[in-house]
Amino acid sequence: MSISVHDVCWSSGGLMIVDGISIDVSRGKTLGLLGPNGSGKSSLLRLICRLRNVKSGVISLGNTDIAAMPRLDIARRVAFVEQQATTEAQVTVLDVVRLGRTPHRGPLSPWTAADDAAVNAALHHVGMPERAGQLWHTLSGGERQRVHIARALAQTPSELLLDEPTNHLDIQHQLEILALVSRLPVTCIVALHDLNLAAMFCDTLAILQRGKVVAAGAPEDVLTGELMSRVFGVHAHVERSAYHGRCHVQYRL
Ligand SMILES: Nc1ncnc2c1ncn2[C@@H]1O[C@H](COP(=O)(O)OP(=O)(O)O)[C@@H](O)[C@H]1O
Ligand SMILES: [Mg+2]
Repeated sequence: MSISVHDVCWSSGGLMIVDGISIDVSRGKTLGLLGPNGSGKSSLLRLICRLRNVKSGVISLGNTDIAAMPRLDIARRVAFVEQQATTEAQVTVLDVVRLGRTPHRGPLSPWTAADDAAVNAALHHVGMPERAGQLWHTLSGGERQRVHIARALAQTPSELLLDEPTNHLDIQHQLEILALVSRLPVTCIVALHDLNLAAMFCDTLAILQRGKVVAAGAPEDVLTGELMSRVFGVHAHVERSAYHGRCHVQYRL
């Protein structure tokens, strides 16, 4: 389903943190959410999965306002991997990924073959099937990140929200995770810091600054030298990559 955010505001402690944001992501597409630290990316993602309630404005999945959706319906379809996702230490990788099935199961319903299939597929997607039995606290930061992504995939979501999912990952796994996300048949919003990876894998980008969208659209339309200087405070030259045809940012001192 598509994700639509219309004129959404959210404030905390008297500060406007999400300030009239509107974005649209078509079904099956990936939107990259970019912006300096503190620009409101994580806050917006929390609003979209209703971990927080909007102060004003409307967020819809398909044609349905999430404010009118039962929480269980949102939990079944929207998977969210938080920036600093934490997990209890004394559990295995398999335990964590199995948690992704929770919204689909009743309190007394038995574990099914479909649950197993979703968990196994998710472990394969992140390249960790052989780690199923490993204890969480023995994993590296990047492996933990991949396990959290697997938990989200095991949820078989129609909407996937990822908050800086490539932090802690080596470049091979950054490329693998973003390639996976961009080919999954889900509608995805991914907060990223790497503008070149965003340009390479996202269908569209939205740039946030102080809680507002200051640019949105196709990567080649959005990522300009002028934007790099105005929003990110850096000098950069943007050119088209001969390899993938998308734009590529070259930073300058
Ligand atoms: N619950 C909160 N209460 C007060 N301020 C908050 C809260 N959550 C976020 N903020 C502030 O809102 C701004 C945006 O934060 P965040 O959404 O985490 O930005 P980003 O993910 O883009 O780095 C920051 O200045 C942050 O300190
Ligand atoms: Mg953040």
